[in-house]
Amino acid sequence: MRPLRIALTKGRLEKSTVALMERAGLDCSALRDKGRRLILPIGDGLEAVLAKAGDVITYLEHGVCDLGVVGKDVILERGGQFFEILDLRFGKCGFALAAPAGADFYQGYQGKTIATKYPNVARRFFQGKDMDVRVIKIEGSVELAPLLGLADGIVDLVETGATLRENGLEVVEPVAEVSARLIVNAASLKLRKREIEALAEKLETANQ
Ligand code: PRP
Repeated sequence: MRPLRIALTKGRLEKSTVALMERAGLDCSALRDKGRRLILPIGDGLEAVLAKAGDVITYLEHGVCDLGVVGKDVILERGGQFFEILDLRFGKCGFALAAPAGADFYQGYQGKTIATKYPNVARRFFQGKDMDVRVIKIEGSVELAPLLGLADGIVDLVETGATLRENGLEVVEPVAEVSARLIVNAASLKLRKREIEALAEKLETANQ
């Protein structure tokens, strides 16, 4: 049987994920000194791959990785067929609706335009309010859209709030809380239940 394979989100969540795995007693020396290697042995019948958040879900859904660490933001936007088994409680931030400071976002009858990197999250939020909005997908700094007059508001991740503040924007309403989650492929959970549960337990204990 191949080692249990875990896909880790590289970038923002990487440091905290590796630190947690080390606290759980896993040998992460290959992850700390990876060079150009893409599949990294962790020992104890476990190996890791580092991937972009969306790819973590893709690998997991196709069953080539058994587990994944990914932000709830990506889970909420992409959805997918997998189980979310642990809230890892790092990478904490939130989705929020934000608009130019002082502007009354909900005022007026004309349709609102929302710029976001997360169109599904934004659409669902406004559907929940029975509000018809135009959603424009932006790839980069979404905060720019209302400043340029392209959008009335944005739905984006807010961590410290500094980006909003420095650009004259403010939170109108929180949309959802976000943190890193441990996710599992459904077939793996059935076939390798014991190994997966043991790993999840180790991580949970180390995360207390
Ligand atoms: C995120 C988000 C905001 C910013 C919020 O962008 O899109 O722009 O962080 O953080 P703050 O509340 O602490 O200012 P990120 O830095 O991840 O860059 P990105 O545009 O590449 O997603």
